[in-house]
Amino acid sequence: MLNLVLFGPPGAGKGTQSEKLIEKYQLVHLSTGDILRSEISNGTELGLEAKKLMDQGVLVPDEVVIGMISNKLDSNKDAGGFIFDGFPRTVTQAEALDKLLATKSSAISGMVALVVEPEELEKRLLLRGKDSGRPDDANPEIIRKRIVEYNSKTAPVANYYKEQNKLTSINGVGTIDQIFDSICSVVNTY
Ligand code: AP5
Ligand code: MG
Repeated sequence: MLNLVLFGPPGAGKGTQSEKLIEKYQLVHLSTGDILRSEISNGTELGLEAKKLMDQGVLVPDEVVIGMISNKLDSNKDAGGFIFDGFPRTVTQAEALDKLLATKSSAISGMVALVVEPEELEKRLLLRGKDSGRPDDANPEIIRKRIVEYNSKTAPVANYYKEQNKLTSINGVGTIDQIFDSICSVVNTY
């Protein structure tokens, strides 16, 4: 089973590359951001609570996203593997994911981290914000808050996988196809 964590700051290209990777490797894409946005558009209680935090660029509580991932793993029992996009975002989430996978006799194959500098992230997200309708893309202040949140709470997750010899960092700047090729050359070694 191939279980890839695609990692990187907001706007690094996790969603863009996941779309291509699921097709090539026949994986199930689990993006906690996408799941939360679908809860918001369905007007669920969870969505309403999460929206307040997401619109400010702040992480939602660990137990909320861990519960969502647990449900998705259970409802995709026949999957050949998963791409985790935007999850785990804290060390607590990473530990919980290891435990969930262990109960299914599985494990993370590796983490690929997309490296992109903050100026480029802000440029990409502001550009998308012109028509994405995502409130968290709407202004530089919230984008910066997302990056601060990433640096303080999420960046340590890379170290968690590094200690397990599962981390590969790649350049996340270039054409989408160039970056895809770099990711594939890592995934092909799993
Ligand atoms: P989430 O939806 O995960 O957003 P994010 O990680 O902040 O960032 P994005 O999804 O916007 O970026 P991406 O890396 O996917 O890049 P993309 O491919 O879209 O999270 C949103 C919120 O939900 C969080 O702030 C938090 O509140 C909550 N949340 C989610 N998961 C959580 C968790 N696990 N725990 C707690 N809270 C959680 O690309 C970005 C743009 O760049 C696009 O317009 C794209 O077209 C463009 N682009 C892509 N590649 C390139 C390239 N190579 N060159 C130029 N442009 C490019
Ligand atoms: Mg995304």
